[in-house]
Amino acid sequence: MKVKKKAIVLTGGGDCPGLNAVIRGLYKSVKYSNEWELWGSIEAFNGLISEPVNIVKLDDNLTRGIHVKGGTILKTTNRGNPLEFPVQDAEGNWGTKDVSQELVDKIKSLGFDAVVNIGGDGSQTISQRLFEKGLPIIGVPKTIDNDLSATDLTFGFSTAVQIATDSFDKLVTTAESHRRVMIMEVMGRDAGWIALHTSIAGGAEICLIPEIPYSLDVILESIERRYKSGKGFVNIVIAEGAKEQGGDVIGKTAIDGDANIKLGGVGNYLRHKLEEKQNFAQVRTTILGHTQRGGTPIAFDRVLATSMGVKAFDLMQAGEFGKMVAYKNHELTAVTLKEATSSYNFVDVNHYLVETARKMGVSFGD
Ligand code: F6P
Repeated sequence: MKVKKKAIVLTGGGDCPGLNAVIRGLYKSVKYSNEWELWGSIEAFNGLISEPVNIVKLDDNLTRGIHVKGGTILKTTNRGNPLEFPVQDAEGNWGTKDVSQELVDKIKSLGFDAVVNIGGDGSQTISQRLFEKGLPIIGVPKTIDNDLSATDLTFGFSTAVQIATDSFDKLVTTAESHRRVMIMEVMGRDAGWIALHTSIAGGAEICLIPEIPYSLDVILESIERRYKSGKGFVNIVIAEGAKEQGGDVIGKTAIDGDANIKLGGVGNYLRHKLEEKQNFAQVRTTILGHTQRGGTPIAFDRVLATSMGVKAFDLMQAGEFGKMVAYKNHELTAVTLKEATSSYNFVDVNHYLVETARKMGVSFGD
């Protein structure tokens, strides 16, 4: 009997609707190839770093119907970077250690011929470093933020926008009833894609994104104008990474070992600022938070994620390692991991959607 080649898949960083659809797409193409078998590493690379390893051989039972499910059957973490792996010294103090070469050697000694890393820019930077150390690795881009410049879209983003838009629609009716200013804070890290899309889909009066710092006075003028015109309520979408002109983002360094600053709270910041400066409107804030990452992926994301899983298989079958699957001009393609992680996908202030919104009378607070 022909010996099958072995591949292992993992999900790293924040979760995102569509991860399971990628795993299933990859699993099915592996299965029908009859040349490979597929394993999964639990909690990103942690499953491979730990002793004993925590890995699982994927089969029909584990993958059946999972494309419909949010989250990841393989679990994930943002505390498993092999280049800065958390370790405790004899006194119990935490530090970090580069365990990447040991990891590469271990994966090879376990007999794996390919690794598929489904993750965002942080995860793909790790993929590139491991590739440089000799690991046959392929990246699949994931993030609700859509902040990877090498791909036109990431799966999970459209689901997040749908969740935000559904919430926005609900906030409109209550804003109207109470004649209130409703602020809805959405995720997106340093990119305003979720906020921009939701503002257009929902019909926001004000859209605040990280790429266009806002002025409180301009926002107040827009609100006042709308109240004076008799409309009597305002819906604002604010991205978690939005900042006031000359100001900084609102967030905190996490105490849980995640090196990234945790954004959040700018909606409440704006609410208090608006309350201080005017007394004609009640202001309320809703922070959508992780609801944007949860639940069932919409059909578009299931299709994108499934086809990305299949494309990852094509790449490993062709031996095209050191690459990331990308979606460009409605086609699936591949870019080098180096290119994939070389720049951040900010909203261009001249993007057609910014222009669309402005022409629809949406204020960016600038
Ligand atoms: O990158 C996805 C994302 O949901 C961002 O939009 C958000 O800033 C961050 O992750 C939240 O991270 P955590 O899950 O660690 O709270």
